[in-house]
Amino acid sequence: MSAVERRPVVTAGVEAVPVGELPPVGRVPSHMHAQVVRPDRYGDPATAFAPELVPTPPIGPDEVLIAVMAAGINYNNVWAARGYPVDQVAVRRKRGETEDFHVGGSDASGIVYAVGEDVTGVEVGQHVVTHPGWWEADDPWVREGRDPMIANSARIYGYDTNYGSFGQFTRVQAHQVLPKAEHLSWAEAAAPTLVGTTAYRMLHGFAGNTVEPGDVVLVWGGSGGLGTQAIQLARLAGATPVAVVSDPDRGAYAEKFGAAGWINRREFDHWGIPPLVDDKAGQKQWTGQARAFGKRIWDIVGERKDPAIVFEHPGAATIPTSIFVCRPGGMVVICAGTTGYDAMVDLRYHWTRQKRLQGSHGTNDAQATAYNDLVRDRKIDPVLGRTIAFDQIGAAHAAMGRGEDVFGNISALVGSAAPDAGRA
Ligand SMILES: NC(=O)c1ccc[n+]([C@@H]2O[C@H](COP(=O)([O-])OP(=O)(O)OC[C@H]3O[C@@H](n4cnc5c(N)ncnc54)[C@H](OP(=O)(O)O)[C@@H]3O)[C@@H](O)[C@H]2O)c1
Repeated sequence: MSAVERRPVVTAGVEAVPVGELPPVGRVPSHMHAQVVRPDRYGDPATAFAPELVPTPPIGPDEVLIAVMAAGINYNNVWAARGYPVDQVAVRRKRGETEDFHVGGSDASGIVYAVGEDVTGVEVGQHVVTHPGWWEADDPWVREGRDPMIANSARIYGYDTNYGSFGQFTRVQAHQVLPKAEHLSWAEAAAPTLVGTTAYRMLHGFAGNTVEPGDVVLVWGGSGGLGTQAIQLARLAGATPVAVVSDPDRGAYAEKFGAAGWINRREFDHWGIPPLVDDKAGQKQWTGQARAFGKRIWDIVGERKDPAIVFEHPGAATIPTSIFVCRPGGMVVICAGTTGYDAMVDLRYHWTRQKRLQGSHGTNDAQATAYNDLVRDRKIDPVLGRTIAFDQIGAAHAAMGRGEDVFGNISALVGSAAPDAGRA
């Protein structure tokens, strides 16, 4: 696979503008303001992010430079700021990239300012959003026409790649660019695409276990970024979403977006690795709690019907319960391990009940377009919980890392000066 050759698209004489302002469309300053993470600041996101003036990114032949109007906050840059589990700067430098810093941000709404020479279908001045799936066009897997998000070169934009949306200009591959929903403000438009496309792939992407009318779908973190999107997508498909949350306010929030009901996980304490098979008494106690949890799902649904799909991302704490309550032949689909990576599966039940534990990551272009069309058709709400200023990006990631204030998505204003600007 070839390294991308990139060139600056800077317009001579154009200086960096303050955050909240834009240079004339198509005129690109040499430098830009960004919230930057550096390895010597890895740790608490509150201090790992700092405002800096950095060079505006150069672009390759198939890339696009977008002036960011608003940037969505996602959990992935909590991880990037911690430098754990992956030191993104070190990984990229091993690949030959020269920057010793990380500008994250995997959701942008904005205006196209420049396009590479091979780009077709994207033009300067267009109002757009970005999806987070990134891959190399000449990756053999991609060339064979297979799902590019499974390719060796697949990455998440603004997490694995530099120059995400926490700068005044962001660099994306042309295929990541999607039309912005005209009825949404810049802040609303920047909020949902990463979590929404991820949820779309999880619910619609795995043949044999795609969401169907009448299915019960159990959604962990039902008030969160992923959760509020999964609930809406399950409803739209005719399924019955049941949320798991950690307090009644979060439960009510999940119901507002379509959950049939919610379970407060704090009423149970069987989380993490269950007692091992030889511990008969411990296993009995654990199974009792898992059964009681499953019965709460039946109570909400109004019949003894187990989830056909369990929408997972907490990971270590919840996987044993997810697999236990999943219906025979059903699927636990997981895109993260927020609570840890060492999860246990009791294989006896897994094989005899023929359940599926499916990993999922990011989105491909078809899934992203299908999801974005639902947003543009007003069938999916972006669930913008709160809008913040550019200088609050670090603090917002720190709060997210502590699990505070989990009500939908957060957007930061970058080029947009007002929270509700940008509606057509
Ligand atoms: N692979 C991908 O493509 C992809 C894409 C998007 C996100 N992710 C990952 O998915 C995770 C969630 O993202 P998000 O945007 O939804 O974050 P979020 O909005 O902050 O939500 C996190 C949710 O996790 C739940 N949670 C926290 N501790 C829990 C526990 N011990 N047991 C059960 N649930 C727990 C919280 O719900 P309660 O505390 O109310 O239960 C909260 O709703 C992150 O790790 C993120 O990096 C991965």
